[in-house]
Amino acid sequence: MEVLKRLETVSGEAAARIGKSESLKEVEELRVAYLGRKSEIMSVLKQLGTLPPDVRPRIGRAANEIRGEIENLLKEKENRLADDIFTRLEETERIDITEPGAPVRHGHLHPITQTRMEIEAIFTSMGFTVAQGPEVETDYYNFEALNIPKDHPARDMQDTIWTTVECPLRTHTSCVQIRTMEKHTPPIRVIAPGRVFRHEETDASHEHTFYQVEGLMVDRGISVANLIAVMKTMLRSFFHRDVTVRLRPGYFPFVEPGFELDINCLICGGKGCSACKNSGWTELLGCGMVHPNVLRRCTIDPEEYSGFAFGMGLDRLVMNRYGVEDIRLFHSGDLRFLEQF
Ligand code: PHE
Repeated sequence: MEVLKRLETVSGEAAARIGKSESLKEVEELRVAYLGRKSEIMSVLKQLGTLPPDVRPRIGRAANEIRGEIENLLKEKENRLADDIFTRLEETERIDITEPGAPVRHGHLHPITQTRMEIEAIFTSMGFTVAQGPEVETDYYNFEALNIPKDHPARDMQDTIWTTVECPLRTHTSCVQIRTMEKHTPPIRVIAPGRVFRHEETDASHEHTFYQVEGLMVDRGISVANLIAVMKTMLRSFFHRDVTVRLRPGYFPFVEPGFELDINCLICGGKGCSACKNSGWTELLGCGMVHPNVLRRCTIDPEEYSGFAFGMGLDRLVMNRYGVEDIRLFHSGDLRFLEQF
């Protein structure tokens, strides 16, 4: 029974190799080798017909049994290897959904924005509204209507950046005074925070782009006393303490009288230090009583109404409060600076 013996050998060999196989690919190769068309078992089955009829059934049964056994072994091995793959994946690609996520870094508002919002809150609590105007202005709003005619020497007070001949980048927020008085009749109480531009050589205290807050109050019987009271109230809420102010004469064509408002230096308390150049005072804003020409141009009768206006440098205010020594830091985008606020 030569054939039976050969089948036994093949069966033993197959079992051993399947047992040792380690990958699905290997299992597949073994399937081809032992059960494929060219395999020993298949050729035996194919040639059954040529065998003598008395041995045919035994050999046929044996070949089929062995084929079944090998098939089972292959299937089992295949299942186990597939399981292993998933077990390994579960280990290596496991996601722990209970693990806390990586912290998200939050930014915050720019110190100038923070201060602008504080100033807005202080003034709105005094009944002011917040107005806005364009950053590219016309000659009319930036100069003409503010009592600065063409060829007036006061045009040289501020170095202007011109976009086209007639359209300057606004050099101050005072333009919003005009825009407001054109639209509204007294009583008027507005502030106008915004960006302004000067054709300026930059240094520690000069920028070509900076921020101002304009203020305007027009009604019957408004005087310098109202101006001082509003300024003091604003400064007290902003600095959380009483601040001494002084007015010096100052020239601005759109106010009469015009003043420079100083506060006592908050760093040395008025004794004199390097920040206030030993004067004990810090220059804070320009202000004054709205010029009759300006009122008239906005069809407000100066015989009936009067008002005050002021223009405050926001950058300067922030520098004073936090002791920032270089105005250029505000637009530097330097996180080491910004993260301190
Ligand atoms: N516009 C002036 C400036 O930019 C400031 C100012 C505003 C002065 C309002 C008086 C009244 O310097």
